[in-house]
Amino acid sequence: MLKEAATGILSKREIEDLYGAFDQIGDIIILRIPDSLVSKKEIIGNVLLEKVKTAKSVFYQSSPVSGDFRTRKLELLAGEDKTETEYKEHGCRFIVDVEKAFFSPRLSTERDRIANLIQDGETVINMFGGVGMFSIIAAKKKKCVVYNIDINPNASRLCEQNINLNKLVGKVESITGDATKIIEDRLAGIGDRILMLLPERSDEFLDSAIKAAKKNGIIHYYCHVHGDKKNEVSRLAKEHFLEIIKTKAEVLGSKIVRPVGPRFYQAVVDAKLF
Ligand SMILES: C[S@@+](CC[C@H](N)C(=O)[O-])C[C@H]1O[C@@H](n2cnc3c(N)ncnc32)[C@H](O)[C@@H]1O
Repeated sequence: MLKEAATGILSKREIEDLYGAFDQIGDIIILRIPDSLVSKKEIIGNVLLEKVKTAKSVFYQSSPVSGDFRTRKLELLAGEDKTETEYKEHGCRFIVDVEKAFFSPRLSTERDRIANLIQDGETVINMFGGVGMFSIIAAKKKKCVVYNIDINPNASRLCEQNINLNKLVGKVESITGDATKIIEDRLAGIGDRILMLLPERSDEFLDSAIKAAKKNGIIHYYCHVHGDKKNEVSRLAKEHFLEIIKTKAEVLGSKIVRPVGPRFYQAVVDAKLF
């Protein structure tokens, strides 16, 4: 589609550079244009808006995901200037705001994996829950109770809205605040399963995750790993986890979740505490 849309406007090489550089989320397209093409961003935005019939807006991502809220700066290239849209995944509906709260469609497979691991009756603490993607997909499938914590009030407001949008067999509670503090105040020792999807800072929060878990609770610990060879990443993630955890744990598995840069990966370690 991109090839056809951009023929005559971009060279073959430039079109190749654009592969994998954009996401469509509901009716919004987000472009991460390589430096070589930044001068052509408006043209690319307009071509995409014209060709992708389901898109109403095209934004250029002008900063990486950053800060406590893990948000990004967006610049409108074409179409409507609105950053909220509806997104559907695994039979659930979500209102997301692509600028005010973290959201990535690239975690879809991981969300399904976690929902399948959760058992009916479990209490899950999603320490960095965002707009509720993992929590709601899990509670749609399983009769579980999920505490979805996020420090960004926009994320927890959207999570609240998303809970009401979906028919769930389980229950999700959206909580605004710092995960460490919320766990200390009201969630210590109750989690069968703890999700830690803040890979840049997981190490800082590992003690809180352990505090939140029951004696034999399971922790899904996410981290970033540099690896020259892709097949060594899961081993490196596991080794790092075992090196930093201060209590006894058995690693149930570890794997790459997604690539996040050249020879740089997001990985997950699933571990059971003793
Ligand atoms: C990488 S995002 C993951 C969001 C969500 N799990 C998802 O996949 O859509 C990390 C989230 O952690 C939140 N966050 C950062 N520091 C936090 C803290 N100390 N306590 C709770 N949430 C925090 C951010 O606002 C952000 O929404």
